[in-house]
Amino acid sequence: MKIKKIAKPKTKPQGVLGFGKYFTDHMVVMEYDNGKWEDPQIMPYAPLSLDPSTCVFHYAQGIFEGLKAYKAEDGSVRLFRPRDNFRRMNDSASRVCIPSFDENKIYDALIELIKLDVDWIPSEQGTSLYIRPSIIAIDNTLGVHPSHKYLFFIIMCPVGAYYASGFGAIKLFVEEQYIRAAKGGTGGHKVIGNYAASLKAASNATARGYAQVMWLDAKEHKYIEEVGSMNIFFVFGNELITPALSGSILPGITRLSVIELAKSKGWKVTERPISIDEVVKGVSSGKCSEIFGTGTAAVISPVGAFLYNGKEHIVGDSKTGKVASSFFDELTGIQTGKITDKFGWSIKI
Ligand code: COI
Repeated sequence: MKIKKIAKPKTKPQGVLGFGKYFTDHMVVMEYDNGKWEDPQIMPYAPLSLDPSTCVFHYAQGIFEGLKAYKAEDGSVRLFRPRDNFRRMNDSASRVCIPSFDENKIYDALIELIKLDVDWIPSEQGTSLYIRPSIIAIDNTLGVHPSHKYLFFIIMCPVGAYYASGFGAIKLFVEEQYIRAAKGGTGGHKVIGNYAASLKAASNATARGYAQVMWLDAKEHKYIEEVGSMNIFFVFGNELITPALSGSILPGITRLSVIELAKSKGWKVTERPISIDEVVKGVSSGKCSEIFGTGTAAVISPVGAFLYNGKEHIVGDSKTGKVASSFFDELTGIQTGKITDKFGWSIKI
């Protein structure tokens, strides 16, 4: 693989990392042209030079992924379920007519990239190296049709907590007017346009003091789908309920990991449609004791309250609950090698 190293490494950030603010020294790039993907290359992290007519700017033919690398206590570096991300990325590619890529080739390129920028992986509690693979359509044309050229790139950034409030409980705004995705649309894939479509509702929610939007289904505005950047779980006694993947919900890798982890611990896990009315009733009667979100960026994010139909509903005692807390510890323990990984999710590189 062709590797071009940076002349002078950048200064690494100090203090609170936040999410997605600092980028490492190198990136992977791989182009698709003349009907095939070229070999991946590693280059210094730098701006891309693209013509204003580049397709992705106009018609959003683009996809992305998010995964993380962790510095373990023994000094080793671990990736969490990386192949699942590349598999899902090829599924997203197919949904928006992007040609599929060789998952092994790009995986190998990622490993080289991590080795090169290994000093960027933070080791403090709650930190990791967030990895963002993306593919964009780069034909220079305004015709609405699949592009003939694509650019695959992987960039990486050291991160801490996704939410400004850290890993504490967040408040959600249940969106009753706008929708995220409808059946048959692109909601079940990591397609860039999904995120643009979510911004209006998300901005309204943050302006009112809520961290993110809880989306309802597009048809009846009744069933819970997912939250801004996470899937969502409800704790009812010894049962964990999460909305069933309906085609308009992103099949989260952290979601799947929590389902598998919970089942292995004896939880009853149910994937089914769950209405906002059922959750409101459950929370007010105390039957629903906790709500938490799951995502690569968000990890396990407890929900302390949500606003629905003009009323704020407090979940439990509005703080991080013990179920969310134990899944957080267990998952991050596996990710960082502190807890034995009997699932084979944590890949030492
Ligand atoms: C992730 O969790 O990796 C995501 O892609 C969510 C995001 C849009 C920050």
